Amino acid sequence: MKQRLTIAVLGLGTVGGGVPALLEKHREKISQVTGMEVVLAKALVKDKTEEKPVQLAKEFGFELTENFEDIINDKEIQIVAELIGGIEPARTFIKRSLESGKHVITANKDLIAQFGPELVQIAKQQKCDLYYEASVAGGIPILRTISNSLVADSIEKIYGIVNGTTNFMLTKMLLEKCSYEEALSEAQSLGFAESDPTNDVDGIDAAYKMVILTQFSFGMNISVEDIDKVGIRGLKAEDIEVAQQLGYVIKLLGSAEMTDGSVSAEVGPVLVPKYHPLASVQNEMNGVFVNSSGVGESMYYGPGAGEKPTATSVMSDLITIAKNIRMETTGHQFNLFNQETKLTPAESIFSKYYVAVEVPDQQGMLLKITRLMTEAGVSFDQILQQQSDGKNARVVIITHEISKAQMEQVKCSFEASEEIKLKSSYRVL
Ligand SMILES: NC(=O)c1ccc[n+]([C@@H]2O[C@H](COP(=O)([O-])OP(=O)(O)OC[C@H]3O[C@@H](n4cnc5c(N)ncnc54)[C@H](OP(=O)(O)O)[C@@H]3O)[C@@H](O)[C@H]2O)c1
Repeated sequence: MKQRLTIAVLGLGTVGGGVPALLEKHREKISQVTGMEVVLAKALVKDKTEEKPVQLAKEFGFELTENFEDIINDKEIQIVAELIGGIEPARTFIKRSLESGKHVITANKDLIAQFGPELVQIAKQQKCDLYYEASVAGGIPILRTISNSLVADSIEKIYGIVNGTTNFMLTKMLLEKCSYEEALSEAQSLGFAESDPTNDVDGIDAAYKMVILTQFSFGMNISVEDIDKVGIRGLKAEDIEVAQQLGYVIKLLGSAEMTDGSVSAEVGPVLVPKYHPLASVQNEMNGVFVNSSGVGESMYYGPGAGEKPTATSVMSDLITIAKNIRMETTGHQFNLFNQETKLTPAESIFSKYYVAVEVPDQQGMLLKITRLMTEAGVSFDQILQQQSDGKNARVVIITHEISKAQMEQVKCSFEASEEIKLKSSYRVL
Protein backbone atom coordinates (compact mmCIF):
# COMPACT_ATOMS: atom_id res chain seq x y z
CA MET A 1 0.00 0.00 0.00
CA LYS A 2 1.23 3.47 -0.90
CA GLN A 3 2.33 5.98 1.72
CA ARG A 4 -0.44 8.48 2.49
CA LEU A 5 0.21 12.21 2.21
CA THR A 6 -2.40 14.34 3.94
CA ILE A 7 -2.91 17.98 3.00
CA ALA A 8 -5.10 20.92 4.01
CA VAL A 9 -6.28 23.93 2.04
CA LEU A 10 -6.81 27.36 3.59
CA GLY A 11 -9.56 29.16 1.66
CA LEU A 12 -11.93 27.69 -0.92
CA GLY A 13 -12.26 30.72 -3.21
CA THR A 14 -11.25 30.90 -6.87
CA VAL A 15 -7.89 29.11 -6.52
CA GLY A 16 -8.55 26.99 -3.41
CA GLY A 17 -11.88 25.87 -4.84
CA GLY A 18 -10.07 24.49 -7.89
CA VAL A 19 -7.68 22.26 -5.93
CA PRO A 20 -10.02 19.39 -4.83
CA ALA A 21 -11.25 18.73 -8.39
CA LEU A 22 -7.72 18.74 -9.85
CA LEU A 23 -6.50 16.43 -7.10
CA GLU A 24 -9.32 14.03 -7.90
CA LYS A 25 -8.92 14.27 -11.69
CA HIS A 26 -5.19 13.54 -11.60
CA ARG A 27 -5.23 11.13 -8.64
CA GLU A 28 -3.74 8.22 -10.61
CA LYS A 29 -1.02 10.31 -12.28
CA ILE A 30 -0.08 12.02 -9.00
CA SER A 31 0.12 8.65 -7.30
CA GLN A 32 2.41 7.35 -10.09
CA VAL A 33 4.81 10.29 -10.09
CA THR A 34 5.00 10.79 -6.34
CA GLY A 35 4.56 7.18 -5.22
CA MET A 36 2.11 8.52 -2.64
CA GLU A 37 -1.61 8.68 -2.12
CA VAL A 38 -2.37 12.38 -1.72
CA VAL A 39 -5.45 13.05 0.38
CA LEU A 40 -7.14 16.39 1.03
CA ALA A 41 -8.30 16.07 4.64
CA LYS A 42 -9.42 19.54 5.71
CA ALA A 43 -10.24 22.97 4.34
CA LEU A 44 -10.38 26.18 6.33
CA VAL A 45 -13.32 28.43 5.46
CA LYS A 46 -14.89 31.48 7.03
CA ASP A 47 -18.38 30.04 7.02
CA LYS A 48 -19.01 26.27 6.98
CA THR A 49 -22.61 26.71 5.89
CA GLU A 50 -21.84 28.52 2.62
CA GLU A 51 -23.03 26.66 -0.44
CA LYS A 52 -19.74 26.28 -2.34
CA PRO A 53 -17.65 24.83 0.53
CA VAL A 54 -20.50 22.52 1.58
CA GLN A 55 -20.85 21.19 -1.99
CA LEU A 56 -17.09 20.73 -2.47
CA ALA A 57 -16.69 18.98 0.89
CA LYS A 58 -19.54 16.61 0.05
CA GLU A 59 -18.29 15.89 -3.47
CA PHE A 60 -14.63 15.34 -2.57
CA GLY A 61 -15.01 14.01 0.96
CA PHE A 62 -12.97 16.41 3.06
CA GLU A 63 -13.80 18.11 6.34
CA LEU A 64 -14.62 21.81 6.62
CA THR A 65 -13.44 23.86 9.55
CA GLU A 66 -13.66 27.50 10.59
CA ASN A 67 -10.85 27.06 13.09
CA PHE A 68 -7.21 27.09 11.97
CA GLU A 69 -6.25 25.23 15.19
CA ASP A 70 -8.01 22.13 13.80
CA ILE A 71 -5.45 22.12 10.99
CA ILE A 72 -2.37 23.03 12.97
CA ASN A 73 -3.16 20.41 15.64
CA ASP A 74 -3.80 17.65 13.10
CA LYS A 75 -0.49 15.73 13.16
CA GLU A 76 -1.41 13.84 9.98
CA ILE A 77 -1.49 17.01 7.86
CA GLN A 78 1.94 17.48 6.29
CA ILE A 79 1.22 20.17 3.69
CA VAL A 80 -0.83 23.35 4.04
CA ALA A 81 -1.86 25.30 0.93
CA GLU A 82 -2.54 28.94 1.86
CA LEU A 83 -5.04 30.30 -0.66
CA ILE A 84 -6.85 33.01 1.27
CA GLY A 85 -4.65 35.92 0.07
CA GLY A 86 -3.68 39.22 1.75
CA ILE A 87 -1.16 39.70 4.55
CA GLU A 88 -2.99 38.76 7.73
CA PRO A 89 -3.98 36.17 8.81
CA ALA A 90 -2.18 34.46 5.89
CA ARG A 91 1.28 35.40 7.24
CA THR A 92 0.50 34.04 10.72
CA PHE A 93 -1.07 30.86 9.30
CA ILE A 94 2.02 30.19 7.15
CA LYS A 95 4.45 30.93 9.99
CA ARG A 96 2.58 28.67 12.39
CA SER A 97 2.32 25.89 9.81
CA LEU A 98 6.08 26.00 9.17
CA GLU A 99 6.86 26.25 12.89
CA SER A 100 4.86 23.11 13.49
CA GLY A 101 6.81 21.29 10.75
CA LYS A 102 4.24 21.45 7.97
CA HIS A 103 5.30 22.25 4.40
CA VAL A 104 3.58 25.22 2.79
CA ILE A 105 2.32 26.18 -0.66
CA THR A 106 1.02 29.68 -1.34
CA ALA A 107 -0.15 31.72 -4.33
CA ASN A 108 0.13 34.93 -2.34
CA LYS A 109 2.39 37.42 -4.20
CA ASP A 110 1.59 40.31 -1.83
CA LEU A 111 2.88 38.25 1.08
CA ILE A 112 5.88 36.67 -0.66
CA ALA A 113 6.99 40.04 -2.10
CA GLN A 114 6.82 41.74 1.31
CA PHE A 115 7.60 38.98 3.79
CA GLY A 116 9.14 36.25 1.61
CA PRO A 117 12.66 36.34 3.15
CA GLU A 118 11.21 35.99 6.68
CA LEU A 119 9.07 32.99 5.69
CA VAL A 120 11.90 31.40 3.69
CA GLN A 121 14.12 31.68 6.78
CA ILE A 122 11.58 29.92 9.01
CA ALA A 123 11.10 27.19 6.40
CA LYS A 124 14.87 26.68 6.24
CA GLN A 125 15.21 26.45 10.02
CA GLN A 126 12.36 23.94 10.17
CA LYS A 127 13.69 21.93 7.19
CA CYS A 128 10.32 22.52 5.55
CA ASP A 129 9.45 23.29 1.95
CA LEU A 130 7.86 26.60 0.94
CA TYR A 131 6.74 26.83 -2.69
CA TYR A 132 4.87 29.64 -4.44
CA GLU A 133 4.83 29.01 -8.20
CA ALA A 134 1.28 30.42 -8.58
CA SER A 135 2.28 33.77 -7.07
CA VAL A 136 3.70 35.01 -10.40
CA ALA A 137 1.83 34.78 -13.72
CA GLY A 138 -0.74 32.23 -12.44
CA GLY A 139 -0.62 29.28 -14.81
CA ILE A 140 2.78 30.04 -16.41
CA PRO A 141 5.46 27.95 -14.68
CA ILE A 142 7.93 30.84 -14.76
CA LEU A 143 9.54 30.51 -11.30
CA ARG A 144 10.27 26.81 -11.75
CA THR A 145 11.60 27.52 -15.25
CA ILE A 146 14.04 30.13 -13.92
CA SER A 147 15.15 28.10 -10.91
CA ASN A 148 15.43 24.76 -12.78
CA SER A 149 15.65 25.06 -16.55
CA LEU A 150 17.55 28.35 -16.70
CA VAL A 151 19.76 27.70 -13.68
CA ALA A 152 22.86 27.28 -15.85
CA ASP A 153 22.07 30.46 -17.74
CA SER A 154 22.69 34.08 -16.84
CA ILE A 155 19.60 36.28 -17.09
CA GLU A 156 20.31 39.82 -18.24
CA LYS A 157 16.79 41.15 -18.41
CA ILE A 158 13.32 39.84 -17.61
CA TYR A 159 10.23 41.77 -18.59
CA GLY A 160 6.66 41.18 -19.45
CA ILE A 161 2.95 41.43 -18.98
CA VAL A 162 2.37 40.07 -15.49
CA ASN A 163 -1.01 41.62 -14.74
CA GLY A 164 -3.94 40.20 -16.67
CA THR A 165 -6.48 42.80 -15.53
CA THR A 166 -4.62 45.78 -17.00
CA ASN A 167 -3.73 43.84 -20.14
CA PHE A 168 -7.43 43.08 -20.63
CA MET A 169 -8.24 46.79 -20.20
CA LEU A 170 -5.48 47.94 -22.57
CA THR A 171 -6.66 45.43 -25.19
CA LYS A 172 -10.20 46.83 -24.93
CA MET A 173 -8.88 50.41 -25.16
CA LEU A 174 -6.80 49.57 -28.24
CA LEU A 175 -9.08 47.28 -30.23
CA GLU A 176 -12.53 48.54 -29.24
CA LYS A 177 -11.54 52.17 -28.58
CA CYS A 178 -13.04 51.93 -25.08
CA SER A 179 -12.28 54.66 -22.57
CA TYR A 180 -10.31 53.76 -19.42
CA GLU A 181 -13.57 53.84 -17.42
CA GLU A 182 -15.45 51.59 -19.88
CA ALA A 183 -12.57 49.10 -19.97
CA LEU A 184 -12.40 49.00 -16.16
CA SER A 185 -16.12 48.51 -15.80
CA GLU A 186 -16.06 45.60 -18.30
CA ALA A 187 -13.08 44.02 -16.50
CA GLN A 188 -15.02 44.29 -13.22
CA SER A 189 -18.21 42.80 -14.65
CA LEU A 190 -16.24 39.83 -16.03
CA GLY A 191 -14.52 39.26 -12.68
CA PHE A 192 -11.04 40.25 -13.97
CA ALA A 193 -10.87 43.34 -11.75
CA GLU A 194 -11.84 43.76 -8.13
CA SER A 195 -14.26 46.46 -6.94
CA ASP A 196 -11.18 48.34 -5.67
CA PRO A 197 -8.84 47.99 -8.67
CA THR A 198 -5.96 50.02 -7.13
CA ASN A 199 -3.42 47.19 -6.91
CA ASP A 200 -3.92 46.29 -10.56
CA VAL A 201 -4.31 49.67 -12.27
CA ASP A 202 -1.60 51.42 -10.26
CA GLY A 203 1.00 48.74 -11.02
CA ILE A 204 1.31 47.48 -7.41
CA ASP A 205 0.36 43.88 -8.21
CA ALA A 206 2.87 43.81 -11.09
CA ALA A 207 5.53 45.29 -8.76
CA TYR A 208 5.00 42.43 -6.24
CA LYS A 209 5.60 39.97 -9.06
CA MET A 210 8.73 41.83 -10.19
CA VAL A 211 10.14 41.59 -6.64
CA ILE A 212 9.79 37.80 -6.84
CA LEU A 213 11.08 37.59 -10.43
CA THR A 214 14.10 39.70 -9.43
CA GLN A 215 14.90 37.28 -6.59
CA PHE A 216 14.76 34.30 -8.95
CA SER A 217 16.48 35.93 -11.93
CA PHE A 218 19.25 37.87 -10.20
CA GLY A 219 19.38 36.47 -6.65
CA MET A 220 18.72 39.97 -5.29
CA ASN A 221 16.17 40.97 -2.67
CA ILE A 222 14.68 44.28 -3.69
CA SER A 223 11.63 45.71 -1.96
CA VAL A 224 8.48 46.89 -3.65
CA GLU A 225 9.50 50.49 -2.73
CA ASP A 226 12.64 50.08 -4.88
CA ILE A 227 10.42 49.69 -7.94
CA ASP A 228 9.24 52.78 -9.80
CA LYS A 229 5.56 52.14 -10.37
CA VAL A 230 3.35 53.89 -12.88
CA GLY A 231 -0.03 52.37 -13.58
CA ILE A 232 -2.49 52.80 -16.43
CA ARG A 233 -4.88 55.12 -14.55
CA GLY A 234 -3.69 58.24 -16.37
CA LEU A 235 -3.28 56.62 -19.77
CA LYS A 236 -5.08 58.53 -22.51
CA ALA A 237 -6.78 57.23 -25.62
CA GLU A 238 -4.72 59.70 -27.70
CA ASP A 239 -1.45 58.16 -26.42
CA ILE A 240 -2.65 54.70 -27.45
CA GLU A 241 -3.62 56.06 -30.88
CA VAL A 242 -0.39 58.00 -31.50
CA ALA A 243 1.69 55.05 -30.33
CA GLN A 244 -0.13 52.96 -32.91
CA GLN A 245 0.59 55.48 -35.67
CA LEU A 246 4.26 55.30 -34.72
CA GLY A 247 4.26 51.47 -34.88
CA TYR A 248 3.82 50.60 -31.19
CA VAL A 249 1.29 49.05 -28.82
CA ILE A 250 1.14 50.33 -25.23
CA LYS A 251 1.42 47.53 -22.64
CA LEU A 252 1.84 47.66 -18.87
CA LEU A 253 5.21 45.98 -18.45
CA GLY A 254 7.13 44.93 -15.40
CA SER A 255 10.85 44.80 -16.04
CA ALA A 256 14.02 43.97 -14.14
CA GLU A 257 17.48 44.32 -15.59
CA MET A 258 21.02 43.62 -14.51
CA THR A 259 23.63 46.31 -15.32
CA ASP A 260 27.24 45.85 -14.18
CA GLY A 261 26.29 43.74 -11.15
CA SER A 262 23.40 45.93 -10.05
CA VAL A 263 19.70 45.63 -10.66
CA SER A 264 16.92 48.02 -11.63
CA ALA A 265 13.23 47.20 -11.75
CA GLU A 266 10.18 49.13 -12.76
CA VAL A 267 6.54 48.86 -13.74
CA GLY A 268 4.85 51.20 -16.18
CA PRO A 269 3.17 51.62 -19.55
CA VAL A 270 5.73 50.91 -22.26
CA LEU A 271 5.53 51.36 -26.03
CA VAL A 272 6.16 47.89 -27.41
CA PRO A 273 7.01 47.64 -31.14
CA LYS A 274 4.17 45.91 -33.02
CA TYR A 275 6.53 43.17 -34.22
CA HIS A 276 7.63 42.24 -30.67
CA PRO A 277 5.97 39.02 -29.40
CA LEU A 278 4.71 40.80 -26.26
CA ALA A 279 2.63 43.11 -28.47
CA SER A 280 0.44 40.15 -29.42
CA VAL A 281 -0.33 39.15 -25.83
CA GLN A 282 -3.99 40.10 -25.66
CA ASN A 283 -6.80 40.31 -23.11
CA GLU A 284 -6.16 38.70 -19.71
CA MET A 285 -3.19 36.64 -20.92
CA ASN A 286 0.33 37.07 -19.51
CA GLY A 287 3.71 36.88 -21.24
CA VAL A 288 7.19 36.94 -19.75
CA PHE A 289 10.21 37.63 -21.96
CA VAL A 290 13.71 36.65 -20.88
CA ASN A 291 17.04 37.82 -22.30
CA SER A 292 19.80 35.54 -21.14
CA SER A 293 23.35 34.94 -22.25
CA GLY A 294 22.89 31.21 -22.94
CA VAL A 295 19.41 30.68 -24.39
CA GLY A 296 19.24 34.20 -25.81
CA GLU A 297 15.62 35.28 -26.11
CA SER A 298 12.80 33.16 -24.73
CA MET A 299 9.18 33.91 -24.01
CA TYR A 300 6.68 32.23 -21.69
CA TYR A 301 3.02 32.80 -22.48
CA GLY A 302 -0.19 31.72 -20.82
CA PRO A 303 -3.05 32.55 -18.49
CA GLY A 304 -1.94 34.68 -15.56
CA ALA A 305 -5.01 33.90 -13.48
CA GLY A 306 -8.15 31.81 -13.24
CA GLU A 307 -9.24 28.80 -11.21
CA LYS A 308 -7.76 25.96 -13.26
CA PRO A 309 -4.48 27.55 -14.41
CA THR A 310 -3.63 28.83 -10.94
CA ALA A 311 -4.72 25.66 -9.13
CA THR A 312 -2.56 23.70 -11.61
CA SER A 313 0.49 25.68 -10.48
CA VAL A 314 -0.46 24.99 -6.85
CA MET A 315 -0.65 21.28 -7.72
CA SER A 316 2.82 21.37 -9.29
CA ASP A 317 4.16 22.69 -5.97
CA LEU A 318 2.28 19.93 -4.16
CA ILE A 319 3.86 17.26 -6.34
CA THR A 320 7.33 18.77 -5.86
CA ILE A 321 6.92 18.67 -2.09
CA ALA A 322 5.51 15.12 -2.19
CA LYS A 323 8.62 13.98 -4.11
CA ASN A 324 10.89 15.83 -1.64
CA ILE A 325 9.15 14.15 1.30
CA ARG A 326 9.58 10.73 -0.29
CA MET A 327 13.25 11.34 -1.06
CA GLU A 328 13.77 13.03 2.31
CA THR A 329 15.11 16.18 0.62
CA THR A 330 12.76 18.79 2.07
CA GLY A 331 14.06 22.09 3.44
CA HIS A 332 15.75 23.40 0.30
CA GLN A 333 14.65 26.85 -0.79
CA PHE A 334 12.53 27.25 -3.92
CA ASN A 335 15.10 29.84 -5.04
CA LEU A 336 18.67 29.12 -4.00
CA PHE A 337 20.25 31.94 -6.03
CA ASN A 338 21.41 34.70 -3.71
CA GLN A 339 23.89 37.56 -4.05
CA GLU A 340 24.40 40.99 -2.56
CA THR A 341 21.64 43.38 -3.58
CA LYS A 342 22.81 46.49 -5.42
CA LEU A 343 20.51 48.99 -7.08
CA THR A 344 21.49 50.60 -10.38
CA PRO A 345 21.66 54.43 -10.19
CA ALA A 346 19.32 56.39 -12.49
CA GLU A 347 22.36 57.57 -14.53
CA SER A 348 23.02 53.99 -15.64
CA ILE A 349 19.48 52.93 -16.61
CA PHE A 350 18.97 53.52 -20.32
CA SER A 351 15.90 53.53 -22.53
CA LYS A 352 14.22 55.32 -25.37
CA TYR A 353 11.26 57.44 -24.23
CA TYR A 354 7.94 58.56 -25.65
CA VAL A 355 7.23 62.14 -24.57
CA ALA A 356 3.97 63.99 -25.30
CA VAL A 357 3.77 67.71 -24.57
CA GLU A 358 1.22 70.44 -25.13
CA VAL A 359 2.37 73.89 -26.17
CA PRO A 360 0.64 77.11 -27.28
CA ASP A 361 0.17 77.00 -31.03
CA GLN A 362 2.77 79.70 -31.70
CA GLN A 363 5.95 80.00 -33.68
CA GLY A 364 9.17 78.94 -31.98
CA MET A 365 7.68 76.35 -29.64
CA LEU A 366 9.44 73.41 -31.27
CA LEU A 367 12.68 75.31 -30.85
CA LYS A 368 12.01 75.77 -27.11
CA ILE A 369 11.28 72.06 -26.64
CA THR A 370 14.44 71.19 -28.56
CA ARG A 371 16.52 73.61 -26.47
CA LEU A 372 15.34 72.16 -23.13
CA MET A 373 15.90 68.61 -24.32
CA THR A 374 19.32 69.43 -25.77
CA GLU A 375 20.33 70.95 -22.42
CA ALA A 376 19.72 67.48 -20.91
CA GLY A 377 21.71 65.88 -23.75
CA VAL A 378 18.56 64.33 -25.26
CA SER A 379 18.13 63.96 -29.01
CA PHE A 380 15.09 62.90 -31.06
CA ASP A 381 14.50 59.72 -32.97
CA GLN A 382 10.99 60.62 -34.16
CA ILE A 383 8.87 63.76 -33.81
CA LEU A 384 5.22 64.29 -34.61
CA GLN A 385 3.19 67.45 -34.34
CA GLN A 386 -0.51 66.81 -34.09
CA GLN A 387 -3.28 69.07 -35.34
CA SER A 388 -3.88 72.05 -33.16
CA ASP A 389 -7.23 72.91 -31.56
CA GLY A 390 -6.51 76.53 -32.50
CA LYS A 391 -4.96 77.36 -29.11
CA ASN A 392 -2.66 74.47 -28.29
CA ALA A 393 -0.63 71.99 -30.28
CA ARG A 394 0.40 68.51 -29.16
CA VAL A 395 3.94 67.42 -29.92
CA VAL A 396 5.02 63.81 -29.57
CA ILE A 397 8.68 62.85 -29.45
CA ILE A 398 10.46 59.52 -29.36
CA THR A 399 13.92 60.11 -27.98
CA HIS A 400 17.11 58.26 -28.72
CA GLU A 401 18.34 56.06 -25.87
CA ILE A 402 18.88 58.23 -22.78
CA SER A 403 19.35 57.64 -19.06
CA LYS A 404 16.53 57.75 -16.54
CA ALA A 405 18.35 60.70 -14.92
CA GLN A 406 18.30 62.61 -18.23
CA MET A 407 14.58 61.92 -18.55
CA GLU A 408 14.04 63.27 -15.02
CA GLN A 409 15.97 66.44 -15.98
CA VAL A 410 13.75 66.92 -19.05
CA LYS A 411 10.61 66.47 -16.91
CA CYS A 412 11.87 69.07 -14.39
CA SER A 413 12.65 71.63 -17.06
CA PHE A 414 9.22 71.13 -18.67
CA GLU A 415 7.60 71.55 -15.26
CA ALA A 416 9.53 74.79 -14.71
CA SER A 417 8.51 76.09 -18.13
CA GLU A 418 5.31 78.11 -18.38
CA GLU A 419 4.56 77.15 -21.95
CA ILE A 420 5.40 73.47 -22.22
CA LYS A 421 3.02 71.10 -20.45
CA LEU A 422 4.20 67.50 -20.15
CA LYS A 423 1.18 65.29 -20.87
CA SER A 424 2.82 61.87 -20.71
CA SER A 425 6.14 60.12 -20.83
CA TYR A 426 6.61 56.38 -21.21
CA ARG A 427 9.51 54.09 -21.94
CA VAL A 428 9.88 52.63 -25.42
CA LEU A 429 11.02 49.02 -25.75
N1 LIG B 1 -7.56 34.32 -8.68
C1 LIG B 1 -6.49 34.06 -9.40
O1 LIG B 1 -6.59 33.76 -10.58
C2 LIG B 1 -5.13 34.11 -8.78
C3 LIG B 1 -4.00 34.00 -9.60
C4 LIG B 1 -2.73 33.98 -9.02
C5 LIG B 1 -2.61 34.10 -7.64
N2 LIG B 1 -3.73 34.26 -6.89
C6 LIG B 1 -3.55 34.37 -5.43
O2 LIG B 1 -4.23 33.28 -4.82
C7 LIG B 1 -4.72 33.68 -3.55
C8 LIG B 1 -6.21 33.39 -3.50
O3 LIG B 1 -6.84 34.17 -4.49
P1 LIG B 1 -8.35 33.90 -4.94
O4 LIG B 1 -8.54 34.62 -6.21
O5 LIG B 1 -8.68 32.46 -4.88
O6 LIG B 1 -9.13 34.69 -3.79
P2 LIG B 1 -10.65 34.51 -3.39
O7 LIG B 1 -11.45 34.01 -4.51
O8 LIG B 1 -11.06 35.77 -2.71
O9 LIG B 1 -10.57 33.33 -2.31
C9 LIG B 1 -10.07 33.49 -1.03
C10 LIG B 1 -10.93 32.64 -0.12
O10 LIG B 1 -10.38 32.62 1.17
C11 LIG B 1 -11.40 32.87 2.11
N3 LIG B 1 -10.84 33.45 3.30
C12 LIG B 1 -10.34 34.69 3.50
N4 LIG B 1 -9.88 34.84 4.75
C13 LIG B 1 -10.12 33.66 5.37
C14 LIG B 1 -9.89 33.18 6.68
N5 LIG B 1 -9.36 33.97 7.61
N6 LIG B 1 -10.24 31.92 6.97
C15 LIG B 1 -10.80 31.13 6.03
N7 LIG B 1 -11.04 31.52 4.77
C16 LIG B 1 -10.71 32.76 4.45
C17 LIG B 1 -12.35 33.81 1.38
O11 LIG B 1 -13.61 33.81 1.99
P3 LIG B 1 -14.58 35.08 1.78
O12 LIG B 1 -14.86 35.15 0.31
O13 LIG B 1 -15.77 34.73 2.61
O14 LIG B 1 -13.83 36.28 2.26
C18 LIG B 1 -12.36 33.19 -0.01
O15 LIG B 1 -13.26 32.12 -0.10
C19 LIG B 1 -4.35 35.15 -3.40
O16 LIG B 1 -3.15 35.26 -2.71
C20 LIG B 1 -4.16 35.61 -4.83
O17 LIG B 1 -3.28 36.71 -4.95
C21 LIG B 1 -4.98 34.25 -7.41
